[in-house]
Amino acid sequence: MLINRGHAAWCVTSLGLVAVATGVYVPYANSAVYGATGNSIIGLLFGIAGTIAMIFAGLLAARKRIVSRKLGSISWWLKGHLWVGLVSVPLIFFHSGFRFGGLLEQLTMWCFLTVIISGVIGQILQHVTPRFMKTATPQQAIFEQLEVAINSLKKAADAQVLSAYDTLFVDVQDDGEESPDDFLRAFYLRHVRTFLQIEVDPDSSLFNATQAEGIFATIREGIPRKMVPIAVELESICNERRQLILQNKLQWIMHGWTLIHIPLSMSLLILTLVHVVMSLYF
Ligand code: HEM
Ligand code: HEM
Repeated sequence: MLINRGHAAWCVTSLGLVAVATGVYVPYANSAVYGATGNSIIGLLFGIAGTIAMIFAGLLAARKRIVSRKLGSISWWLKGHLWVGLVSVPLIFFHSGFRFGGLLEQLTMWCFLTVIISGVIGQILQHVTPRFMKTATPQQAIFEQLEVAINSLKKAADAQVLSAYDTLFVDVQDDGEESPDDFLRAFYLRHVRTFLQIEVDPDSSLFNATQAEGIFATIREGIPRKMVPIAVELESICNERRQLILQNKLQWIMHGWTLIHIPLSMSLLILTLVHVVMSLYF
């Protein structure tokens, strides 16, 4: 999910809530004899509000697994997740009076902050992975999409070359010398087509953008003029392939990121439960 105008209402409401919470917190913290504590009525209310915000954010996971329109759109929940999740931060700090407390509370706080920070990082990652990564799609689906995209690039490249030649694959035994007319096809088969495979050889000369640019410039000079537009197209297809390599890398980072954010958010809910029970009953 990208942050766009659809977030305006959420953003304004969240800022409003934080403003109200701050308006309550400042006079309360200033007037309380021992400063703000989780034990006071207002402190407790902040703790409860912060926990509700956390639980609301966590409900995204449940919403994603229940297929029903009645529960609101996924996009509504994704926005709510982000904004309400962020609002929980000041609420929790107001609850604890900006202290980290004893061992259990410290653990809970660090878990909480890691969830928030990983969430923010994940959100940033979603902004820099443009095409595939709008939601945390299962890894398998992403690779299937990637394969489809790579195959369609290869098809487009084959079609380009076939617009100048009758066939892609020549019988090498019959073929002695490489004529200038054959040059583009030979280059295509040896370098471009191998670069358009699912698994790219990391030593491929087209891997590096600058190097590829130089190679294509040389190619354009060595082929008949009528083939130049084809070489230009092939170059742009290779550039797209390079983009996909970058996206694939980002997918892996994205996947790694959810391995931090999601399990820790579950631990956070459990730690919170333990904290509530411990601080209220003991
Ligand atoms: C329903 C929710 C919650 C309730 C009822 C609650 C209750 C309390 C209470 C009674 C205290 C005071 C304990 C004492 O002074 O001995 C406290 C302290 C504290 N709570 Fe919570 N809490 C809640 C949620 C949370 C959450 C979600 C976090 C963090 C993610 C949190 C972090 C802390 C911290 C760090 C302190 C220690 C502050 C200090 O050192 O004075 N609490 N909480
Ligand atoms: C206490 C607060 C939070 C909790 C408990 C929490 C929990 C979760 C959970 C359980 C998921 C997995 C949903 C699923 O796919 O099943 C998730 C996803 C995600 N969270 Fe959080 N989160 C919190 C705060 C945040 C914050 C503050 C941000 C960003 C600023 C954030 C960003 C994300 C993103 C980008 C995803 C992936 C959503 C998608 O595209 O599918 N989270 N979070």
